[in-house]
Amino acid sequence: MAKILAIGIATIDIINTVASYPEENAEVRALSQQQTRGGNATNSLVVLSQLGHSCHWAGVLINESDSQLVKLDLQQHNIDYSACQILETGKMPTSYISINQQTGSRTIVHHRDCPEFSFADFQKIDLTQFDWVHFEGRNVEQTQLMIAWLKKHYPTLPCSLEIEKPRPDIENLFASPDVLLFSKQYVQEKGFQSAESFLDSIESNQIISCAWGEDGAWAKNNKEMLYSEAYPPEQVIDTLGAGDTYNAAFINALINKQPLQQALTEACQLAGKKCGHSGLNDLINA
Ligand code: FRU
Repeated sequence: MAKILAIGIATIDIINTVASYPEENAEVRALSQQQTRGGNATNSLVVLSQLGHSCHWAGVLINESDSQLVKLDLQQHNIDYSACQILETGKMPTSYISINQQTGSRTIVHHRDCPEFSFADFQKIDLTQFDWVHFEGRNVEQTQLMIAWLKKHYPTLPCSLEIEKPRPDIENLFASPDVLLFSKQYVQEKGFQSAESFLDSIESNQIISCAWGEDGAWAKNNKEMLYSEAYPPEQVIDTLGAGDTYNAAFINALINKQPLQQALTEACQLAGKKCGHSGLNDLINA
């Protein structure tokens, strides 16, 4: 069991399951609706907690009625949020999500009126207690300060960085984390046709990984390129949070000192299982 800190966001996810993805300007009825806590960092923590780790989240919580749902979900998964910054104004980030029942695809419209977690608040956290720190690749300027601070004051504390979207200057974050977890979306938007060609283009001794949906995932360390096939479920039900699950399983395997090939395989297996499972609750024991 490791003590893990993740820095990133929690959201309110309003999820409509629809029979098929609507045409523009159409009016359709949802088959069902659900409101849950989401957000990449907290999603990954929910999975890591189920994998037996002691999980802590640092991010921003707005003191409004909707944050109750977020807090309750974190409590149910034993995730400590005492390092969060609590604000009296603003709104919890909210995602309006359509899950297509036919394909399991998730289409997200995201709304934010919430400041990002600050370096000043990060500095207040006693990092000596943690075995691993995970960052969401966002809030670039402040996150760069956090990573630099961590590496200066706690050089042996491993850290990982998730890169999901190509945000301005996000490349400034890449140099120091021990593990870089890239999404297919980032790599494609950077103009690469495959995970392999992208990973090939990076000169570094870090552990770097990129998952590519149903084509599997690749990882590289010290010039060695590794591959795992995907493990799709019999029926794809819900892909929301599959990438966050992949990241959690990958980090879990590295914490457990598994070889990189094993980490890659376990991450693909759990992400595949997630796609056949609705939500993230009870994922491991399902
Ligand atoms: C899934 C997710 C959702 C959230 C959105 C934020 O990866 O974290 O839970 O609404 O992405 O970008």
